[in-house]
Amino acid sequence: MTSKIPFSPLEYIKPTADQLMEQSQSFLDLMKKRRTVREFSDEPVPEEVIRNCIEAAGTAPSGAHMQPWHFVVVRDPEIKRQIRQAAENEERINYEMRYSDEMKKDIEKLETNFEKPFLEHVPVLIAVFKESYRIENHIRRKNYYVNESVGIATGLLITALHYSGLVTLPHTPSPMRFLNEILKRPGNESPTVLLPVGYPAENTQVPDLQRKPLGQIMTVF
Ligand SMILES: Cc1cc2nc3c(=O)[nH]c(=O)nc-3n(C[C@H](O)[C@H](O)[C@H](O)COP(=O)(O)O)c2cc1C
Repeated sequence: MTSKIPFSPLEYIKPTADQLMEQSQSFLDLMKKRRTVREFSDEPVPEEVIRNCIEAAGTAPSGAHMQPWHFVVVRDPEIKRQIRQAAENEERINYEMRYSDEMKKDIEKLETNFEKPFLEHVPVLIAVFKESYRIENHIRRKNYYVNESVGIATGLLITALHYSGLVTLPHTPSPMRFLNEILKRPGNESPTVLLPVGYPAENTQVPDLQRKPLGQIMTVF
């Protein structure tokens, strides 16, 4: 049995030098406005927009094209309530016992605590799962660079949501194994991040964080 597939011509239109500059600049301007939001309005968001953003996330490159991700969309109020309860249970222990003094100091500026009311009131939750390995014909098969691949897909999802005009928060109420149980995902999948998605609440404030300047994050030879 061969695993070869046919090749076809790349769909690509070379931009002019001006377009190249303009597109990179306008994308940078857009991304500079992306912020993590922790207060959401309960206004519903169109299902089609969420579907488009997840389909965009699914265009991510992945090790050996294994696409080791799964996105669970939650709108059901009862399931959101269960997730909030389980997440707050874990977060209470995190803040009281698991977080080191160093971590507590590092997140102090964000003014967060164990309470996560947005998990219940936000219109949509997206739980991102990584497929640590896959099962084919009852045989366990390897996936490659799973963390990197799912991280890239999650980045695309956050970017697509932002580009569409919605806001989100990459939330990690670890350990998150409770999400497998509530969302009925199989044992070869692990949750990596929980994204509440919606519009920001009115008058939402965000911390005045500074991003590292280019000179600090880039080295050129
Ligand atoms: C992997 C990851 C996990 C995060 N987990 C949490 C979290 O559990 N709770 C939270 O309030 N913010 C969380 N954040 C959000 C960060 O605090 C936020 O991205 C950072 O403060 C920078 O702010 P900005 O996204 O507005 O640029 C997480 C971000 C990432 C990338």
